[in-house]
Amino acid sequence: MPRLDLQELFPATDAIPAEHRLAAPIHQTHHLVDGRLLASDGERHTVLSPICVRDAGTPQQVEIGSYRLMNEAQCDAALAAAVAAYDNGRGEWPTMGVAGRIGCMQQFVKQMVAQREQVVRLIMWEIGKGLADARKEFDRTVDYIAQTIDALKDLDNASSRFEIAEGTIGQVRRTPLGVVLCMGPYNYPLNETFATLIPALLMGNTVVIKPPQYGTLLFDPLLEAFRSSFPKGVLNTVYAPGQVVVPRMLATGQVNVLALIGSSKVADHLKKQHPKSHRLRAILGLDAKNAAIVLPDADLELAVKECLSGALSFNGQRCTALKMLIVHRDVVDRFLQRFTEELAKLKVGMPWEPGVSITPLPGLHRTAYMTEALDDAKAKGARVVNADGGSFCQTLYYPAVVYPVREGMKLYREEQFGPIIPVMAFDEVATALDYVTTSEHGQQVSVFGSDPDQIGALVDPLVNQVCRVNINCQCQRGPDVFPFAGRKDSAEGTLSVADALRAFSIRSMVAAKQTETSKQLLNAIVDGHKSKFVHTGFIL
Ligand code: G3H
Repeated sequence: MPRLDLQELFPATDAIPAEHRLAAPIHQTHHLVDGRLLASDGERHTVLSPICVRDAGTPQQVEIGSYRLMNEAQCDAALAAAVAAYDNGRGEWPTMGVAGRIGCMQQFVKQMVAQREQVVRLIMWEIGKGLADARKEFDRTVDYIAQTIDALKDLDNASSRFEIAEGTIGQVRRTPLGVVLCMGPYNYPLNETFATLIPALLMGNTVVIKPPQYGTLLFDPLLEAFRSSFPKGVLNTVYAPGQVVVPRMLATGQVNVLALIGSSKVADHLKKQHPKSHRLRAILGLDAKNAAIVLPDADLELAVKECLSGALSFNGQRCTALKMLIVHRDVVDRFLQRFTEELAKLKVGMPWEPGVSITPLPGLHRTAYMTEALDDAKAKGARVVNADGGSFCQTLYYPAVVYPVREGMKLYREEQFGPIIPVMAFDEVATALDYVTTSEHGQQVSVFGSDPDQIGALVDPLVNQVCRVNINCQCQRGPDVFPFAGRKDSAEGTLSVADALRAFSIRSMVAAKQTETSKQLLNAIVDGHKSKFVHTGFIL
């Protein structure tokens, strides 16, 4: 008998605490194009929450609202508005001084913060993220904007001078790239969309955003802030099936930057749609299958704690989640015992419940995938080592610790992106290293151990395989000032606060011969404030 009756964990509608309910379904009818909130009359797309209610019979996903799908002409108009606002670099936004752009962004943040409660509530209802994590996502995004503004001031101030080399006077600044198509993922629909949107805007680009498939409605409370904070056409939204509208936009050749947090397969397909692919800059956060390597001398309690949180925060739906645990054979039994004991303490339930860890997945297809991957592993000789592991009810899936996972099973290489923890044992460190080396992914790895010789010897080859080696701690993106990148199928480009500003811009310079006439001319431009580019002013 299962220890948990998962069905019982879904509430009846009237048992949902009043303070966590959505006051009313959100029926989004407008999209933002060219500075106007326009009504869409397209097909209505119903939005179902991962959260189910059990009012009668089998629990059913709650309908939380809908949005109107835009037709092709409306999507074309969104792109055209971004192109017109950029105006080949002559638009108001790309030619606005950095201080002006920062001012618009600060105005936006003020309005965004006023919508915190509604956005957090929608993150919880649309993707099933626990309330505390949903709040963290919102607040972290606001901090990220503030940090990006500070980094931009530093960048601009460092460029507020002339350099002289070999008889040439030059001033170098970073300038925008053009039109950015910005698409975030469902697991961090706000934070990761903004992680590219904010630097793209601040550098003077114009943007079309396509919100993620799950996590669309939460942009609704922000549309007015988008509209009123930036000049018309600088920010436009598209609500339409991505597989149709995105290739169409790229095929026009008018998108200069593709900012996508999604799968490598989709990214490869999209990049090929651009008629001149060399003109398309891609900033991509893609698949990952981060491993934890637990050495025999590791502090096992620490390793268990970090691996548990690394594998199961937000149900394992993080690109940085630990998706394969590789544990030395001498300690694997003890590790599994302690891991499953600690896992059993995790609270399963609805996102608003205090202390909840495991919450519903975004749709029935996700529990179906988990079941398929688990069945495949079981058929090939692995077993579930924790009580109730792999049991599910509708969208709620109880985490499964699967051991021993080996080559040939789906779980060995596929990114499960959910609450399954594959574990394998190793005898020689070379086996663990080989797993990382032969992987198609190259984001991060965690190493648990205490021997400086062994850790040092592992770090050196690993840093050339992934972009972050975490010693005695789980993989993670933050702090945002550190570079977030990946090799192989895991990423293209680097996104830290400062790196993102670089990613969405290109250096351009003004140069003149070091002659008296040039000096006089440049001084006159600076003194008379004749240029937004040629100046030596500081932003404080
Ligand atoms: O899903 C990928 C996120 O960028 C991971 O961020 O490590 O802070 O959860 P995190």
